Amino acid sequence: MNRPTISNVRAMEILDSRGNPTVRVFVQLSDGTESSASVPSGASTGENEAIELRDGDVSRYAGKGVLRALSNVTEIIAPSLIGMDAFEQARIDRLMIEMDGTENKSKLGANAILGVSMAVARAAAQSVHIPLYKYMGGVGVRRLPVPCMNIVNGGQHADNSVDIQEFMAVPIGAPCFREGLRYVAETFHILKGLLKDRHLATSVGDEGGFAPNFSSNEDAIETIILAIEKAGYRPGEDIAIALDSAATSFACGNTGEYDLNKSGVGKMTSADLIALAGEWIKKYPIVLWEDPLSENDWEGFRTFTEKYGQNIEVVGDDIFVTNTRYIARGIKEGTANSSLIKLNQIGTVSETIEAVRMCRDAGWRYFLSHRSGETEDTFLADFAVAMDGGHLKTGSASRSERIAKYNRLLEIEQELGSDALYYW
Ligand code: PGA
Ligand code: ZN
Repeated sequence: MNRPTISNVRAMEILDSRGNPTVRVFVQLSDGTESSASVPSGASTGENEAIELRDGDVSRYAGKGVLRALSNVTEIIAPSLIGMDAFEQARIDRLMIEMDGTENKSKLGANAILGVSMAVARAAAQSVHIPLYKYMGGVGVRRLPVPCMNIVNGGQHADNSVDIQEFMAVPIGAPCFREGLRYVAETFHILKGLLKDRHLATSVGDEGGFAPNFSSNEDAIETIILAIEKAGYRPGEDIAIALDSAATSFACGNTGEYDLNKSGVGKMTSADLIALAGEWIKKYPIVLWEDPLSENDWEGFRTFTEKYGQNIEVVGDDIFVTNTRYIARGIKEGTANSSLIKLNQIGTVSETIEAVRMCRDAGWRYFLSHRSGETEDTFLADFAVAMDGGHLKTGSASRSERIAKYNRLLEIEQELGSDALYYW
């Protein structure tokens, strides 16, 4: 049987979960298969992320339209890809990287390139009737990720008094994914009740977590711990805590200073921030801390990892931007012991897999992630299982663009049946 080739590539402008335009790409194969994929979008983006091409035409969507990215898909990328073997993911991705020719995909746009890259993978899997996670991960794939559920939103994801961007509940003691999801969804609902009792807002932020005006960052953590207990779970044993400071968003440029102005704590040095983190790690059941320092504070990151990296997972997001160039430096310098992995930070499926491979080879962990602007696309759920990273973050127990990924993971677990694995 001849392997199917790419016969058509088209794209459309859709809206993401913040109501901003994003790219959806459709790839058709010679055997009639057609698949699509939709591209997410970040808010607290790293400086070195691949570029999301936006029109800048203020008469449409305040300049955020993606019509130029669409035309790059149909006018430039599509003609070169038609006739190619859909199973040659790496070759297809490399061709697009070469056609773009820039360091950060600013010519064609990472949103254009990634949409095609994901849609090609999905079309190839669909044409051979293999679930996407198995197609991308191979026969050994059977582990479900621990869902690090972001139940309180702060930082740039919410207009509230909290500096830390994400407070995640991590069901480390659950026996399987389905139960883990239940543990943290129940905690989310109990948390809502606790907030109501205190007359705090129960509206949610961009990733579906609550976003009230806590009296301090510590108050947020302590209220989550109370919710865990009230839900009938043991903090630190059944459910632990993970944080994403997204510290780039409260760094004072390159001065090495930070300004925790949302909570009113005010200015701190990198060393102060590291010392404060140490107190929290002692006091609270924290198992993972992402971006505790800013993307420019490599030295602070290294010190943080030296001090706490034996006890917790130290994840670099903005500092590594899923780019092997920065991850390699991090491995050499001991900057962290884990990298966040976001497909749209680098812009192709193959390069994202390279970033994962580099972490794995170095004995690092890697943490699969959604973006704060998402769509109903569930690609991330399959990708997380395929990459076998053991944990992912994809938002809270609210907002359907987040729930869609959890529901897809439930499906995958059910399909794997008793072969499914789950552990922290
Ligand atoms: P973003 O946030 O998608 O807005 O960048 C997620 C994160 O910082 O991990
Ligand atoms: Zn982050």
